[in-house]
Amino acid sequence: MIFFDAQENTFYLDNGRITYCFGLAKEGYLECRYFGRHIRRCNGSARPWYFDRGFCSNPDPQDKRFSLDTLPQEYPDMNQGDFRSPAYVMQTPDGRRVTRFLFQGYEILQGKPSLPGLPATYVEHLQEAQTLVVRLADAHTGAQIWLYYTIFREYDAICRHVEVVNGSTDALWLERLMAMSMDFPGGDYDLLTLSGSHLMEKVVHRRPVTADAVVLDSCRGASSPQQTPCVVLTEPQTDESRGQAWGFNFVYSGDFQAVVQAGQYGSVRVQMGLNPLTFGWNLEPGQRFVSPECVLVYSHTGLNGMSHTFHRLYAQRLFRGPWRDRVRPILLNSWEAFTFSIDEEKCLSLAKQASELGIELFVLDDGWFKNRVDDRRALGDWVTDRTKFPHGLGRLAQAVRDAGVDFGIWFEPEMVSYDSDLYRSHPDWIIRSPDYAPILSRSQLVLDLSNPAVQDYLVEAVSAVLEETKASYVKWDMNRHITDLGSSWLPARQQRELSHRYMLGLYQVLERLNQCFPQVLFEGCSSGGGRFDAGMLYYMPQTWASDNTDAVCRLQIQSGTSLLFPPVTMGSHVSAVPNHQTGRITPLETRFAVALGGNLGYEMDIRTLTPEEREEVRRQIRTYKALRETVQHGTFYRLLDPQQHNDAAWNFVSQDGNTVVCCQYRVLADPLRRTTVVRLQGLDPEATYRRQEDGVCFGGDELMYAGLGDRPVRQDFVSVISVFEKVEP
Ligand code: DGJ
Repeated sequence: MIFFDAQENTFYLDNGRITYCFGLAKEGYLECRYFGRHIRRCNGSARPWYFDRGFCSNPDPQDKRFSLDTLPQEYPDMNQGDFRSPAYVMQTPDGRRVTRFLFQGYEILQGKPSLPGLPATYVEHLQEAQTLVVRLADAHTGAQIWLYYTIFREYDAICRHVEVVNGSTDALWLERLMAMSMDFPGGDYDLLTLSGSHLMEKVVHRRPVTADAVVLDSCRGASSPQQTPCVVLTEPQTDESRGQAWGFNFVYSGDFQAVVQAGQYGSVRVQMGLNPLTFGWNLEPGQRFVSPECVLVYSHTGLNGMSHTFHRLYAQRLFRGPWRDRVRPILLNSWEAFTFSIDEEKCLSLAKQASELGIELFVLDDGWFKNRVDDRRALGDWVTDRTKFPHGLGRLAQAVRDAGVDFGIWFEPEMVSYDSDLYRSHPDWIIRSPDYAPILSRSQLVLDLSNPAVQDYLVEAVSAVLEETKASYVKWDMNRHITDLGSSWLPARQQRELSHRYMLGLYQVLERLNQCFPQVLFEGCSSGGGRFDAGMLYYMPQTWASDNTDAVCRLQIQSGTSLLFPPVTMGSHVSAVPNHQTGRITPLETRFAVALGGNLGYEMDIRTLTPEEREEVRRQIRTYKALRETVQHGTFYRLLDPQQHNDAAWNFVSQDGNTVVCCQYRVLADPLRRTTVVRLQGLDPEATYRRQEDGVCFGGDELMYAGLGDRPVRQDFVSVISVFEKVEP
């Protein structure tokens, strides 16, 4: 899949469906050539014309046509005549930031090496992928930058990351480090991003790429609800099922920066890496620094095609452990019903009723530990509140299991309250500057996870509860962002490393817990989908998609999230109405139809349901169980975009192609009662499908080309779930 054409000085990564190609230009600079649909050879038909342009500096004084300012580059330096965004910035011991990294050599490896201490896609067999390592060297410092490129046989994705190796005798200071950089040729592109906020995460924003640069970043200590480390470039006409799309997603959960920069001569530079605002790294002689990886996906079948590659790659080669391939349990979470006023009696009565309804897991959310009566105290003290749980959590968990459902529990391990025993005994364990009172958010402080003692404490504290309760599920929350970046653990010269070291520390804690408790299903959360990223999914294969459980808002949130992540990752719960975030009253049927778009749960006091509602919930759970394999492990197609229409629709196709689930939603009633037709995707046009509801049969061609209409109802917030089974010919 990877070869070097020595005559043309060109590297090819090619799996028969996609080709990624770059070459050696003059002087040892690397020139980007092509990333797209498979081509047999890249001889330069689309290459830009090089000529002597004004203000362009020339590394070869004899050749005024050759300038880094116009060269499409693979990993551009700063300060060398390419005045666009540099891929890295390195300060040398003389205080300068002048380096020149040129091609030195390469090797091709079978498989894909892991990234020490970092989440990353992986292979199970060496034949699944090949990796190209290109070494760039700086003659003055002796430092090297190694560029890693992996191509998979089965997925139309390239993974890139870099390693900086300090081969000099002095320390180097890394100020900026992108995992990847590439230059697209001139043309019209649209840029899609997933920006948002708490309660409205991952909203798709689309606009043309024009002059100048768009910089997306997070300096919040988390990938954040405000941004997602993802950019997608498309042709202007690309839609869900047609046209080219190039997706870039950083496998990282902390501060990042993504740059999309239009060059003066039409090219477009895309970069993704660590956020230089909060990143700095002191690299001692002989040390290496490994960046997180960026996944690059190409599709010529529109955005759905791009999403399918992300979904398959992540579901099969990013998630790990036994839960990767299992269907996920239907859960009942205590939070929206009881917040902090939860106790043993409530838990047990909920668990019993949950079991009667067919729910499989009871999750005890916030409020279970000593003194946790509100959000102003007790974080860090992971010991049971005996006033609420007089018999202890071990007994409770067993009683919950005896009632017929598994037991899961909530933690927010990265945090500490002032009013906690942990803070009183370790005031030096928090992130802060000694010169200022630390800024609070949700009345809490952030633990300094760069400190190994803090990491050990968290592993021990969480492990003790998991051992006592034998919990099968953990909800791992994180409800504030990081301010006052300062560590009493790190020496002065390493303070700038704190933001990245925090992430490395967190990953370390999660890895240890994954190893100790392989059977536990971890669900990430950060006030909802505030850290819904590929990095977290490596340790926790599902995330609470949003604190906003309003069915209408969820259409947008889940649809946007699905650009990158498959439905099996999205915690989506049916909650009470009026909705606690929007006040909106939507029918139970529609709340379920939206929650079915992910990992189903309920988050309400089910004891207050009317007998009719109980029956409906029981039916919903039976339906979900019957469809769960298709929803969680099938292929997901976005059909109608809720941001553009009053309607939304998506369909799932099971892995064996025999079951199709189509969900249609209409937000507001249409006085004209017009029919909205959606054209299903992913069916076999030659096959016949029987609709479960009424037994009527349709051809796959009819459902895909003529489509499926909705029903003329006079009501807001309506939904229809149609299930089709393929009929044997
Ligand atoms: C924020 C989460 O998103 C909620 O679901 C809940 O777990 C609260 N934290 C608990 O404090």
